Amino acid sequence: MTIPSRRTFAIISHPDAGKTTLTEKLLLEGGAIHLAGEVKARGANRRARSDWMKIEQQRGISVTSSVMTFERDGITFNLLDTPGHEDFSEDTYRTLTAVDSAVMVIDAAKGIEPQTRKLFEVCRMRNVPIITFINKVDREGRDPFETIDEVADALALDVVPMSWPAGMGGEFEGIYDFATNRLMQPTGPSKEFEGARHQFTGLDDATLAARLSPRALARLREEAELAQGGYSGFDLAAYRHGDLTPAYFGSALKKFGVTELIDALAAYAPPPRPQPAEPAPVEPERADVTGFIFKVQANMDPQHRDRIAFMRLCSGKFRRGMKLTPSGSGKPIAVHSPILFFAQDREIADEAYPGDIIGIPNHGTLRVGDTLSERADVRFTGLPNFAPEILRRVALKDPTKTKQLRKALDDLSEEGVIQVFYPEFGSQWIVGVVGQLQLEVLISRLEAEYKVEAVLEASPFDTARWIAGPDAAVKSFIEFNRSSLATDRDGNHVFLAKSAWDVGYQQERHPDLTFSATRER
Ligand code: G4P
Repeated sequence: MTIPSRRTFAIISHPDAGKTTLTEKLLLEGGAIHLAGEVKARGANRRARSDWMKIEQQRGISVTSSVMTFERDGITFNLLDTPGHEDFSEDTYRTLTAVDSAVMVIDAAKGIEPQTRKLFEVCRMRNVPIITFINKVDREGRDPFETIDEVADALALDVVPMSWPAGMGGEFEGIYDFATNRLMQPTGPSKEFEGARHQFTGLDDATLAARLSPRALARLREEAELAQGGYSGFDLAAYRHGDLTPAYFGSALKKFGVTELIDALAAYAPPPRPQPAEPAPVEPERADVTGFIFKVQANMDPQHRDRIAFMRLCSGKFRRGMKLTPSGSGKPIAVHSPILFFAQDREIADEAYPGDIIGIPNHGTLRVGDTLSERADVRFTGLPNFAPEILRRVALKDPTKTKQLRKALDDLSEEGVIQVFYPEFGSQWIVGVVGQLQLEVLISRLEAEYKVEAVLEASPFDTARWIAGPDAAVKSFIEFNRSSLATDRDGNHVFLAKSAWDVGYQQERHPDLTFSATRER
């Protein structure tokens, strides 16, 4: 099968580095203009947490912008949105399992920030190649060398400067692209936006003097020489292996360097990669359709209890109406009304190729981590389930709502908003999350979508571990530790520990059991 060109990627960044602005400019550049307004609205509104939750509840917006597709020069770019809030979110991390590469946006004045680093670690776990975009060069920033060295040191990556700013902030006069020897300069009386591109033969081209002030030119020549000489050269294999990152300077706001970024994605970012699976990794060239669910979004329409499962297609040519078997239930389903994200072209909306994302409406049959396949002979691996770092007991304000609460907790755990544990003893259920914000989202969604008022109380437990081992050993452990035992939504045994020490102690006493902090699906 010939696979059409795809670049499936995500943007990783710390809040406020400029992800929303860059997304908007990428979409504008790619011609998907009608989406750009929505992205903007979301970015502006997201600033306040309460606003963010309202936006999330309105669902419509975050769904259309969950996957954004644009085309350029015969290549289809699938940009997967990763929620930008500060808290660690499982949703974000799982989305990164569905991409082939990432763009890391860094604020030129701030360098590597905590969220960038966390997201980077997830990319590294999966060898996801990264292109770095050093944003906001139109503002006073740090010395560009400082930023580049920081990326190299903090992330243990080889950084290759691919372009260089001629001055920054008030002295900004343009960006010089090393590969093409082009200078991009602001034009017009306000010098607000990128306008002109000038071609040169190299940095020693005498005609550069006509475009830059003597001071900016001298500085550019000196810094560019250091930048090109002081760092390793670009190496495609090292980039694709996740060991090297090409770095571009730019200004998302003023649309500097955005074209170069898309060109870099087209030229260097990998097409769909083989995906880890049992019994063997799945190559995109494989003829039959396979894919996995990396995200489920419930209650997009409060009138219907439907949910959309987002599947990354890993192999084969998907056609509307085709039958696929989910690994969870084992019962084939016909995908009659897939949501495809090609904004422009209805013609190709009936089929999709490796690297594409398909939204599948369902009533809860599809779960995060499920494999879907034509032949039901493969299972994708490696979608992590993160260790809950915060455990809370859920108490109902109205005790007659137990049934609704159970349904809500099951749904939301399926969506990956929370993890839920049902203790063997006692009637109060426990939720586990990895970031505080998830608790706020939980309470707000319980009220808005399930009409359940609940409060979260301190839990006697500090951490949760999935127990595995020989049947007899598990059984005897359960017998003796009932007061600390629970089951998760799927009925797996979970040990609720009062402290990390408690885990260590049990592990020592039961060497034949494993106590896992995460459960791989
Ligand atoms: P995020 O999604 O990563 O959180 O960042 P977002 O794009 O929302 O950008 C955060 C702020 O940084 C916004 O300003 C945005 O205008 C600004 N910004 C983004 N890229 C650039 C750039 O290249 N240069 C400059 N100078 N600013 C940039 P804000 O004042 O918080 O919001 P707004 O009122 O301007 O929308």
